[in-house]
Amino acid sequence: MEQIQVRNAAAMKQPPKITSESITVGGKTYATDTFTNVTPTILEKTTRQLHLIPSHPIAIIKDLISTSFPDFKHYDKFSPVVTTKENFDDLCFSDDHPGRAVTDTYYLNEKIMLRTHTSAHQLQAMTESDKLLVTADVYRRDEIDASHYPVFHQMEGAQLFDTKTAVEDIRKSIAADLASSGASGSINTTDTTVITPENPKQDCHDEAAMLAVADHLKHSLNMMVRRLFAHEKDLQVRWIEAQFPFTSPSWEMEILYQGKWLEVLGSGVIKQDILKNAGKPDKIGWAFGLGLERLALVLFGIPDIRLFWSQDERFLRQFEPSQIQKFKPFSKYPACIKDISFWSNENFHENNFCEIVRDVAGDIAEDVQLLDEFVHPKTKKRSVCYRINYRSMDRNVTNVEINEIQEKLREEVVKRLKVELR
Ligand code: DAH
Repeated sequence: MEQIQVRNAAAMKQPPKITSESITVGGKTYATDTFTNVTPTILEKTTRQLHLIPSHPIAIIKDLISTSFPDFKHYDKFSPVVTTKENFDDLCFSDDHPGRAVTDTYYLNEKIMLRTHTSAHQLQAMTESDKLLVTADVYRRDEIDASHYPVFHQMEGAQLFDTKTAVEDIRKSIAADLASSGASGSINTTDTTVITPENPKQDCHDEAAMLAVADHLKHSLNMMVRRLFAHEKDLQVRWIEAQFPFTSPSWEMEILYQGKWLEVLGSGVIKQDILKNAGKPDKIGWAFGLGLERLALVLFGIPDIRLFWSQDERFLRQFEPSQIQKFKPFSKYPACIKDISFWSNENFHENNFCEIVRDVAGDIAEDVQLLDEFVHPKTKKRSVCYRINYRSMDRNVTNVEINEIQEKLREEVVKRLKVELR
C-alpha cells in the first residue's frame, strides 16, 4: 500500500490534460462521457497537495492531530481519483443519495470521480490496519464565498477492536491514557446524546461492546481537541446526534467559537458490513472524519479560505512546521464588482453557475451572491441577478481584465446553461 501511495504522490504533480474525449490525471487516462463535469481549474488543484507541504497551515494541523494518535498508520498519498464504488457503494450510500448528484460531485465519467470525502479510503486502509489515519484533498461542487471552496482537506481516523475482548481492552486503554496525560479534567464537555431508534445500535452488536467503543471514540477525540486547543483556557465541546450512511450510532462534535457552535467532525460506530467487506467480521470499531480548513481558520485566525491556496510569500512565510501562529493580515487588494442578470430555466442550478464563474475567473472570484430574483407576471419566466465580487489575493486586478472575464462569463453562461441574458 505504501508503494501505491508514493507512486501516486509523484504522479499527481504532473499537469492534468483534458480533451473532449479523455482526461489524464495522476498519469492515468479516463474516457469522458455524459457525466463528465470536472474542469481544468479543478483538476489543476489535484497537483497542489497542500497537506504534504510541511510549513503549510493544513499540514501543520494534520501533524498536530496525528500526535494524538501515535501508533496509527497514516496514509496521506492516496490519489483523489476514486470509483463511485469506493466513494459511495462501499460505504452503504443508497442509490438515490443526494451526494451522488452531478450538481454536488465532480465526475470524470459515470464510474470515476474526485473523492468527496476521505471515507472513500476507509475500506482499503482497514483491510491493512486496525488503527489508521487518512489525510487528503477532497472535492465538492459548492457555492462561492469566504468559507466555501470546491477543494478542502479532511482527516479520517478509525480504530478496530476484537469484539470478544473490546470491553476489557477499552477499559484498560482509557485508564492508562488518563493516568499518563492527566489533562482530561480541563476540558468542558457536554454530551446529552442517547441511543434512539433514529440513531440506533446495530442489531449485530453487543450493547456493552458498542457502548465501550462509543466511549473510546469520544474519549480519544476529546483528548485530541484538548491538545489542539491547548492555549484556549475554557474550551467548550459538545456532542450531538448525527446520521451517516456508514456508521450507527453516529455523532458530531462541535466547539464553541466566537459565540457560535462550530461543527468539527462526524463520527460513529462503523457499520458491520464495511468491516465484513474489509475481511474483519470479528472486529468492532469507531471512525471519524474532520475538516482541516475549518480548524485551521479557527486556530490560525485565517479570514478567507482562498488564502490556503495563495502562492503569495506574505502568506506562506508566516508559518513554520509544528507551530500554531496567529495569521497577520496583509493589505487586501481592491475588489471589482460586476452584476449579471438572466432568465433562468427549469434546469438551472446555482452550483452550475458558480462552476462557470470559477472556470472563467479562477481564484479571482471571491464571492457570488444572488442579488435579486423575480418571476415575470405574464410569461412566468424567472429572472435572476447575481453579483460577483472579483479580487485577487496576490495582486491588483485591472478593470480591463475583469471586463474581459465578465464578457467571457456572459458568453459561457449562455452557451452552457442555455439561458437568456437580460
Ligand atoms: N465522511 C463524512 C463527511 O465528509 C465525515 C465522517 C463522518 C467520517 C462519520 C467518518 C465517520 O469516518 O465515521 O461528512
